[in-house]
Amino acid sequence: MATLEKIDACVFDAYGTLFDVVAAAKRCQDDLGDNWGPLAQIWRDKQLQYTWLRSLMDEYVPFWQVTQDGLDYALATLKIDDPDLRKRLLDIYLQLDAYPEVKDMLGTLKTAGLKTAILSNGSREMLASAVDNAGIADVLDGVLSVEALGIYKPHPSVYQMAVDDLGVAKERICFMSSNAWDACAAANFGFRVVWVNRFGQAEERIPGQQEREITDLSQLPPLLGL
Ligand code: 2OP
Repeated sequence: MATLEKIDACVFDAYGTLFDVVAAAKRCQDDLGDNWGPLAQIWRDKQLQYTWLRSLMDEYVPFWQVTQDGLDYALATLKIDDPDLRKRLLDIYLQLDAYPEVKDMLGTLKTAGLKTAILSNGSREMLASAVDNAGIADVLDGVLSVEALGIYKPHPSVYQMAVDDLGVAKERICFMSSNAWDACAAANFGFRVVWVNRFGQAEERIPGQQEREITDLSQLPPLLGL
């Protein structure tokens, strides 16, 4: 597969791309039993739906609030009323596991002289906690939260924030996301995009086309000729 040329920076979505969003529910299997999978799915779907709806309604609240609201919807749907479990799930969400290949992959990019950053819906507090827990602060040049803008992805101003913060032209930024809608929107904005299709999903039918598709981030450095 031909390598991607003329890339100066690699920018990453956070939840689902660098951090394992289902890890919280998975780690509470003892309490959730067979419900852990449905809870993780409903929670994630509703969390994202609320970001899109709140952006359209011009009713922004930080992602930590939306994450709690999505969890409350999922617990109510599954008729689970357990405040202690709710607290455990949220505490774990603040310290989600990074996927196993992430730290080494970022180190390889930094060694090659590329700029690296996170660009995420996550609130500043959530991202700081996840980055610290994953031990990747030393291989990131920036951690960018939509909190600075008060609007969520896929609004173009979110992707523009990476251009402004890194001082790199959009055509020289390689953007990675496992969220296909995010990958499409970033490509539509003008980034070079690699879709990290961790979950074997079909392509979205919305504007924007990724240049490459991989299944995990260990495949990114070779794509960049590293
Ligand atoms: C993120 O912005 C889309 O939740 C995803 O990290």
